[in-house]
Amino acid sequence: MAIRKILTYPEKSLLQPSLKVDHIDDEIKKLVKDMGETMFDAPGVGLAAPQIGVNKKIIVYDFNAPSQGDDEKKQEFTALFNPEIIEASGSIVSEQEACLSVPDYSADVKRYERVKVRALNIDGKKLEFDADGILAIIMQHEIDHLDGVLFIDRISVLKRTMYKKKLKKKIKET
Ligand code: NI
Repeated sequence: MAIRKILTYPEKSLLQPSLKVDHIDDEIKKLVKDMGETMFDAPGVGLAAPQIGVNKKIIVYDFNAPSQGDDEKKQEFTALFNPEIIEASGSIVSEQEACLSVPDYSADVKRYERVKVRALNIDGKKLEFDADGILAIIMQHEIDHLDGVLFIDRISVLKRTMYKKKLKKKIKET
């Protein structure tokens, strides 16, 4: 296992769509372990493969994310392959949504309140499940990554322009 470097905007792999995984082999399983370790190290509650420069449809998320505040929680994560949202309903604002690939910035993002997700698990088994609350937001955020979409693509043009200006200034300074 190894902690991978998390790429940040505007790195190319974050902005392009990822390819489907058609065979979950040992190499992919090793990658997934690295993703889990990298996510907990960051720390974050979700991570998509393009964030470490791998454009494959793989996400991991903190299994205990919906029950935050529990000090006893173990570091367990779930991996999903080729996840897609097949149903969505309701509307919610994810307050101060952030992303490991968009450092030092957060914003409110409009999301669906409930989603139904279809994916393959680590054993290659097809599964479908309903998600709401924090989990619904994580699913939408991470699956967006697989389409090359970041949360800053879902905020107002004005806010996005301000963010990009701030980033340019920061890049100049360093
Ligand atoms: Ni993210």
